[in-house]
Amino acid sequence: MRIDILTVVPELLESPFKHSILKRAQDNGVVEIHVHNIRDFSTDKHRKVDDYAFSGGAGMVMTIQPIEAAINHLKAQRDYDEVIYTSPDGEIFNQQIANQCSMYQNIIILCGHYKGVDQRVRDHLITREISIGDYVLTGGEMAAAVMVDSIVRLIPGAMSDETSALTDSFQDNLLSPPVYTRPAEYHGWKVPEILLSGNDKQVNDWKEKEAWERTKRLRPDLLKGHE
Ligand code: ADE
Repeated sequence: MRIDILTVVPELLESPFKHSILKRAQDNGVVEIHVHNIRDFSTDKHRKVDDYAFSGGAGMVMTIQPIEAAINHLKAQRDYDEVIYTSPDGEIFNQQIANQCSMYQNIIILCGHYKGVDQRVRDHLITREISIGDYVLTGGEMAAAVMVDSIVRLIPGAMSDETSALTDSFQDNLLSPPVYTRPAEYHGWKVPEILLSGNDKQVNDWKEKEAWERTKRLRPDLLKGHE
């Protein structure tokens, strides 16, 4: 898979993809992540990428020209499954969307900034608009990092233990059961006896029950249509 991210603040995305599973996935050739500075595509002599909104109002708007140039430059080299725009008014990102995106070959993610992009970019160049939650960020870069992280870990080969993505919270609309490690007792705080029993069937039943109880208590909304 190849992910191209378009941003006016590439510095914000310097670190998130250089560690842990995301780094390994890139090193192993499972995914390529390319961050592009939209300014590099501006024909303005000052590399301007924004302008005042028609009819006034606070905040600058990202202009069409450098964004279109960047997207055309990428599209000339390969086909893209989706050109995603990060915006607080997009559809809310979730595990299902992450699963879907993890099956794509190539995607572009355009990070919104300032007051957002000229609406014509959204009308003509964007295929999907995604928000990571009902709150407003300074820009779409953090949203892009969140999405890329959750997508890449799902690509086969990204994780050393491939089954572990399947047992994530939300994968079956249930939260994950609690986990424990050594020591079995700490300050008198004990690991549930059953986990030390070595009885796989009982352990799995326990995990399932805990996952249900936890979901019912913390996120009952996830159980709608599940029972
Ligand atoms: N840009 C600003 N806020 C955002 C959000 N909640 N999700 C995605 N992009 C954003």
